[in-house]
Amino acid sequence: MSSMGEDEVSSFFESSPPLKKMEDILQKLNGFIELNSSGGRRRIVCVTSGGTTVPLEQRCVRNIDNFSSGNRGAASTENFVKAGYAVVFLYRSGTCQPYCRSLPDDPFLECFQFPDNTNIQGICLSFSIYIHRFIFNQMFCTAVAEARLLKLPFTTIYEYLQMLRLIATAFKDVGPCSMFYLAAAVSDFYVPWNSMTEHKIESGSGPLDIRLAQVPKMLSILRTNWAPQAFCISFKLETDSKILIDKATKALGKYKVHAVVANELSTRKEEVVIVSSSGNVVVRRDSDKPEAIVEDNLIRLIVDRHSTYIKESHT
Ligand code: PMT
Repeated sequence: MSSMGEDEVSSFFESSPPLKKMEDILQKLNGFIELNSSGGRRRIVCVTSGGTTVPLEQRCVRNIDNFSSGNRGAASTENFVKAGYAVVFLYRSGTCQPYCRSLPDDPFLECFQFPDNTNIQGICLSFSIYIHRFIFNQMFCTAVAEARLLKLPFTTIYEYLQMLRLIATAFKDVGPCSMFYLAAAVSDFYVPWNSMTEHKIESGSGPLDIRLAQVPKMLSILRTNWAPQAFCISFKLETDSKILIDKATKALGKYKVHAVVANELSTRKEEVVIVSSSGNVVVRRDSDKPEAIVEDNLIRLIVDRHSTYIKESHT
């Protein structure tokens, strides 16, 4: 990576507002890694999910948001846990959660209890949703109880990138058994903290002019400095299918990730293309099975590739 790129990354972090509860996050993270990966017990993956926001005011009232429901990240997390991985789920607050993808982020699900004094009619009306919640919550609790899933929420681009750096640095000792699966939709432009107004922007003074700076791409520094031995999958989202594969191929070369998952916005739940140095593979949802999701087949392939990568790293 050029020193120009490194300078941009350093100045991004130096000017970021400090991450709240950093000690607490670090403690959880290190405990989780120690529990799961010591003695090569388990592979570990960081799944990023949801979109980052860019605040326009320090005491934020308005922000610019990146689109992502978090469905891809949540569904992929379930499949990684099924494949035996420990997952650090770095997700945007309020987006889809593993094991309850059709429901909003709801702390209720983490301590499921049937209400004692609900009347029979109420129970009947809520029956299907409770059953749904109950079954998926049981799976969620099992994963958490077995300490296979660590959920870390973010909202802003500042929080996301600082947490990604913490995780990557903590994964360093896990080496090739660690993976990054970067499905989050990350802001490309932002307002630098020190040039941001503190209070709510006033609306009475006509149109608003804001100059956005470019967010430095963190993929290069993740690959070269933070966690060079980790297996790294990035994503490419486009709305124009004609340019998608070309953009993904360029990203593969530029950031030296192990594969880029290319998806087009309107068809992303049906099909993705894994772009890598061994060629392009189209992965589709099994349309003959109503419950099937594209992530079932996608994660199976990614896990196979990770196995090959681990084997090759040991020879
Ligand atoms: O959540 P869903 O609704 O299910 O939708 C899933 C999805 C479409 C959001 C997901 O599949 C997806 O494509 N995520 C990546 C979207 C994106 O931000 O693409 P991009 O072209 O802007 O970025 C490409 C890669 O660069 C990403 O892996 C990102 O982590 C990385 N990046 C981006 C900006 C930045 N400043 N630094 C980065 O490292």
